[in-house]
Amino acid sequence: MTDSFLLADAPSGTGSMSTADSLFTLEPNQAPVAPEERAKLLVDPGFGKVFTDHMAIAQYDEGIGWHDAKITARRTIDMSPASSVLHYAQEIFEGLKAYARPGGGAALFRPEANARRFQASARRLAMPELPEELFLDSVRQLVRTDIGWIPPGEEGSLYLRPFMFASEAFLGMRMAARYLYIVMASPVGSYFKGAPSVSLWVTREYTRAAPGGTGAAKCGGNYAASLVAQAEAVRNGCDQVVFLDAIERRWVEELGGMNIFFVFDDGSIATPPLGGTILAGITRDSIITLARGMGLTVREEPYSIEQWRADAESGRLTEAFACGTAAVVTAIGSVTGTEGGFAIGGQSVGPVTQRIRQSLVAIQRGHAPDPHDWIEELG
Ligand code: PLP
Ligand code: COI
Repeated sequence: MTDSFLLADAPSGTGSMSTADSLFTLEPNQAPVAPEERAKLLVDPGFGKVFTDHMAIAQYDEGIGWHDAKITARRTIDMSPASSVLHYAQEIFEGLKAYARPGGGAALFRPEANARRFQASARRLAMPELPEELFLDSVRQLVRTDIGWIPPGEEGSLYLRPFMFASEAFLGMRMAARYLYIVMASPVGSYFKGAPSVSLWVTREYTRAAPGGTGAAKCGGNYAASLVAQAEAVRNGCDQVVFLDAIERRWVEELGGMNIFFVFDDGSIATPPLGGTILAGITRDSIITLARGMGLTVREEPYSIEQWRADAESGRLTEAFACGTAAVVTAIGSVTGTEGGFAIGGQSVGPVTQRIRQSLVAIQRGHAPDPHDWIEELG
């Protein structure tokens, strides 16, 4: 076998076609899930458990560049055990959603921002940058192909997971010469089902990212490193872990998969600044714009865990929420650490959190105008 990476179970005898305006050749799935079965799967898909009929795929080889871009049947992949991602973790990913439009069709929310962040992650992990047009084309074509997989209802969306990894079979320590880019699509409901708010555990044991590290990149390694802290949170009866900075161990950074905002009684809100150790969330950025548009003062400034406790206890801090593509906007009800805990507001969704959530979701779902040009409708 000369190939370090092979596609398994490739359907034989399938027709393929190139659409004039797409870089991705379409090879339709010859055995898609039956419509009745799909309808059942879409009733309560949960998060990240159900996948659509197709995936986008493209390969990169040093000296050749990107090639063999196609939308094809979702299938298993057959990898050499020497694939360097399995040893040195050169892997990055993205997360974005497609929403059903009220009048039919689908729309993406700020996909260019994900394309640019994917490139930034690639630079940090010494991987080739996927051209923005290839990223955009892959998600557009996959959504168009699997549009029937968007769950009905106000909570549902099609979560898109673009990712790229080093597929070269080589154990030497250097950046790989071969990569695979794939996009999967997964119909999803809400990430935190049924809970009005989440409880946080402040880990003193673990940090998520250090200056100069990979905190601002969306690479799998960051998440692997956060799982033990998340397990600590669950052991302590909390839903999610919140990380502090790695140097002073006092500045609030973010959750394992979400950014964080604080709401004050003077009508201002604050969020930790982007300093290279937290992910530059697209939801975070959108909320900053929306909140300013609502007349709220928004500060991007460091906020310490001691101050958070003092402000929650004095009533100066009235609400806090987490945000991200998967989590949308989720209220934080309580914070617990080794020094004890404190409650936030009424431990439910406060009015500012609610207003911000509604205004974001209304734009994403086409129920409100899109003054910032964030929506890309797919014909
Ligand atoms: N922070 C981390 C560590 C994340 O994994 C995510 C999710 O993607 C976010 C923040 C929120 O980013 P976004 O709003 O772009 O989804
Ligand atoms: C996302 O929100 O897209 C993420 O990648 C976070 C993850 C916890 C699902």
